[in-house]
Amino acid sequence: MTRIDSSPTKPLSASTVVHASHEPSEWWRDAVIYQVYPRSFADADGDGIGDLPGITSRLPHLAALGIDALWLSPFYRSPQKDAGYDVADYRAVDPLFGTLEDFDVLLEQAHERGIRIIVDLVPNHTSDQHVWFQEALRSPAGSPARARYMFRDGKGADGSTPPNNWQSIFGGPAWTRLPASEDDGPAGPQWYLHLFDTSQPDLDWSNDEVKAEFEDVLRFWLDKGVDGFRIDVAHGMVKADGLPDWSGKTSMVEGTEKPAEQVVDPGAPEDGLVDTSVNGPMFDQDGVHDIYRAWHQVLAEYDGDRCLVAEAWVEPMERLARYVRADEMHQAFNFAFLTTEWDASRLRDIVAESLEMSDSVGAPTTWVLSNHDVSRHASRLGYEDASQRPAGTAGIKPTDPQPDEALGIKRARAASLLMLGLPGSAYVYQGEELGLPDHIMIPDEARQDPSFFRTNGEEIGRDGCRVPIPWEAAAPGYGFGPTGKTWLPQPPSYGTYAADQQRDVEGSTFEMYRRALEVRGEAELGSGSLAWVDEYQGSSDVVALLNRDVVVLTNLGTEAVTLPVGAEVLVASGDHATATEDSGARVPRDTTVWFRV
Ligand code: GLC
Repeated sequence: MTRIDSSPTKPLSASTVVHASHEPSEWWRDAVIYQVYPRSFADADGDGIGDLPGITSRLPHLAALGIDALWLSPFYRSPQKDAGYDVADYRAVDPLFGTLEDFDVLLEQAHERGIRIIVDLVPNHTSDQHVWFQEALRSPAGSPARARYMFRDGKGADGSTPPNNWQSIFGGPAWTRLPASEDDGPAGPQWYLHLFDTSQPDLDWSNDEVKAEFEDVLRFWLDKGVDGFRIDVAHGMVKADGLPDWSGKTSMVEGTEKPAEQVVDPGAPEDGLVDTSVNGPMFDQDGVHDIYRAWHQVLAEYDGDRCLVAEAWVEPMERLARYVRADEMHQAFNFAFLTTEWDASRLRDIVAESLEMSDSVGAPTTWVLSNHDVSRHASRLGYEDASQRPAGTAGIKPTDPQPDEALGIKRARAASLLMLGLPGSAYVYQGEELGLPDHIMIPDEARQDPSFFRTNGEEIGRDGCRVPIPWEAAAPGYGFGPTGKTWLPQPPSYGTYAADQQRDVEGSTFEMYRRALEVRGEAELGSGSLAWVDEYQGSSDVVALLNRDVVVLTNLGTEAVTLPVGAEVLVASGDHATATEDSGARVPRDTTVWFRV
């Protein structure tokens, strides 16, 4: 039991140890990784779309913030039907974003500043403009070119019914039929599978050429010197044998809806842990793990600690832990943390469960609150009554009940400071260090996300969290680029959030993040420990944990919490009443503080 001797009258103690500290080792185990969404970060050439030279020009901002690494969303050659997650050439930079030389400059300058670079790999599907898919379109059914993708004959005498009932995650059927051609057999034109947009055909990962190609792509970027890869849809590459029908529904921003009756999984799970059918026959099949074992070996051929990060929306957490077993990937995004409501006991449960699960396989836990696919947490947390919040992590519509911006930012700061105080690796999505909310009122005609169009607006999509970053309050386009053009409109409120309004400004969100990262580094919280502070264990209002010698306390209740006499506050997400000689500092609602006693 650790005692925190704050005052002789009321010492704090922390006897429920959830996670032990470790010696700092591979960099990714405790790194703070900043996600850059290149389209929206900074625009150097003035076309209204961010680019690689734009990122390079803003490295001083990132260095001042104190992050360890950048994860860059795709900047590869792409028709941009899904904002670059539709890759036409995995080894080329799209002219929108610059050139391969621009990438080399960015990598070199980031490395000079001690910032590592993780790039995005999209192996579940290519763009329909990829040479392979174009070749498949020109080739007959049964040809090797078609065998790289999931082409199937349709059902019925004329093959006019799709091969199964799967729905695209962006809405509508997951199958598209080719136009008729004179080479067609009796089943007529074939269908191809696309779990996402029609322009994103799924690859067939039982095909050796596909496997070899992606190992080669990994080597291409590893040879350039990248430090890791974020693996897109890491749970999707292998589909259940026979592509069985499924009555569940998955959607990008609202998560998986299980079928009314659980389908019995045809193949028993590898380790008998959990029935895989909860995630559907298109997701989380055991075969994906063979791919990651092979990739682990590829990375191991290179010096330094290169890493693979899984984007895998799978449940329950035991299933996620399997992606980060010792011979597979190194990290997986913790979406269970992201989707947890603003509730002390739920947060405690998910934190403990996350650490226990990743400890069981020797991997670091990750923490994430926002990314380019979900509503920013400053908006999600802006509902006093969480039940008012639109379902899941979905984008918020102009016609939905609207979040309270001030409440959202207050809680977002508290949530971020809680996250950054946890042991493991934390992900920060560009702009959250400025406290940005979503732009909810984007007019329909300005929307870009394919999920908006494929659901006829039923899902508003992800544009709201992808709005170009405000850098300078007084400049056109808030300094996003030299011309003031922005590919999505920015809301007027973004002026007050601009980076130049926050740098060196006491109490700003940027300064809170900067200070938190400084203390996190000095106190080695990322490789630290977690024990619950006994006094608050049963509290429905407070999350309080000890990480090494720092207490991280979040007050989610309405009453202020008084800290022990003599507690030294290291960083706080909001105002707190200063301590006096006989009373510790008072922490109001929706506030996190880090302190030592
Ligand atoms: C991932 C990406 C998302 C993209 C989808 C299809 O979930 O994060 O932005 O639309 O994959 O590639």
